[in-house]
Amino acid sequence: MKRRTFLKNGSSMIALAGSAGLALPFISKFSKTANAQSIETLLPIPKLLENLDKSGETTTFDMDVRQGKVEFFRGKQTSTLGYNGNFLGPTIRVRNGQRFRLRLKNRLSEITTLHWHGLHVPAIWDGGPRQPISKGAEWKPEFMIKQEAATLWYHPHAMGITGSQVYRGLAGLFLIEDEVSDRLDIPKTYGVDDIPLVIQDRRFFKDGQFAYVQSMHDIINGVIGNYLLVNGALQSTLKIQSGLVRLRILNGSNSSIYRVSFSDNRSFQIIASDGGFLERPVKMNSILLSAGERSEVLVDFSDLKNLGGINLRVDQIQGKQFNAMQIRVGELNDAKYTIPAVLRQFDRIDESSSNRIRKFAMETMGGGMGMMGGRLTINGKRMDINRIDERIKAGTTEIWEISNRSGMMMSMPHSMHLHDVQFQILSRNGKPPKPHERGRKDTVLILPGQSVRIIIRFGEYKGVYMYHCHLLEHEDDGMMGQFEII
Ligand code: C2O
Ligand code: CU
Ligand code: CU
Repeated sequence: MKRRTFLKNGSSMIALAGSAGLALPFISKFSKTANAQSIETLLPIPKLLENLDKSGETTTFDMDVRQGKVEFFRGKQTSTLGYNGNFLGPTIRVRNGQRFRLRLKNRLSEITTLHWHGLHVPAIWDGGPRQPISKGAEWKPEFMIKQEAATLWYHPHAMGITGSQVYRGLAGLFLIEDEVSDRLDIPKTYGVDDIPLVIQDRRFFKDGQFAYVQSMHDIINGVIGNYLLVNGALQSTLKIQSGLVRLRILNGSNSSIYRVSFSDNRSFQIIASDGGFLERPVKMNSILLSAGERSEVLVDFSDLKNLGGINLRVDQIQGKQFNAMQIRVGELNDAKYTIPAVLRQFDRIDESSSNRIRKFAMETMGGGMGMMGGRLTINGKRMDINRIDERIKAGTTEIWEISNRSGMMMSMPHSMHLHDVQFQILSRNGKPPKPHERGRKDTVLILPGQSVRIIIRFGEYKGVYMYHCHLLEHEDDGMMGQFEII
């Protein structure tokens, strides 16, 4: 198997041992000194990718994808992948109405792709499994940004190896700004009071390498880590000067579902979901994000003057709880913001405008452990790149009813994602969605036994796009289908 060649040293043997159900020699804790060292780290902020077109009317970006090394633990070099660097990638920031242009060079020794998660984009530039970039090759997408302000992201999406490449470091943020985001009186200085948080967890082998293995257990459950990274750093500290801070949170993990909160349980305002601003801010004190989902929140820290600190809490619903990052508040500046009661007019898609209803069952097979194939399916099928699963007329509106039908002893959460569109949730188990889930979405958590109805207005670009579970081990195993806009 090709996949095996990515694994370092002895790890392919371990992968085999894993499928046989033997205990894996993952590390559970490094020595105190290793941890003590990382506590001092400041939260890294991904750089903004420089626009080479200084006129600002269009964008011209240059990026490469390469191998790297990161010392997550003292004295241990972890082999990683990154865009323009060792791990993760720069933040790409564009404006609605801009022409987007990028040159991406693949310096890896394997195939990759680059997908714009959440973006309305011509199918040929979607960067899914149908647009592979072979090693050494260049890829030059070019299209118009036709979408309102939002926190999107990008990551590789090559057939069967998305999980492995994301795990080793390939992901970055893609921000769209527009008149609404300009006008709103909210924090918007990138890296200062507008802070991106890419949350991911990882497992490591004793030698410091990422423990990305695909045993049967890991495929079904997803690869769930016991170390937490924020923007690629373990246990870092975010220092802030402003009372009100905007956090753009991405659950960039492979398969974990996170409940994000603060150690003192303080409340915050949710202002945006996957596809942009909500109609109104929603006050909460924790938010649940499945793999691939984003949320923008405003948090007021002005009570914590002079280096008072609290922790960002990240709890995996699959198991572990982390003090993900420390937040320390310095001398407060006197920036004051008025959060408006209405963030933006919201164009709600009316249920009666739907042209068609489709049903999707996401299933985890209960039996046949140890057998290859047929484990994770949508409507009983596994991904086949030569098969178009759904044909949809451009510009039409549809309701998709998606249910998580987990088999016996196999209740797995799923995270349904559609390319090219931002949809709206109509109901979850027959009930209207909670206020923070009433915005634009491209990814939706569907817990075991749940059924979610979404409404989608399909776009004008013709071509083939993916829909899939965003638990990347599920996706790679075939929990994915293709829709064609005709
Ligand atoms: Cu974020 Cu098809 O992916
Ligand atoms: Cu996507
Ligand atoms: Cu899934």
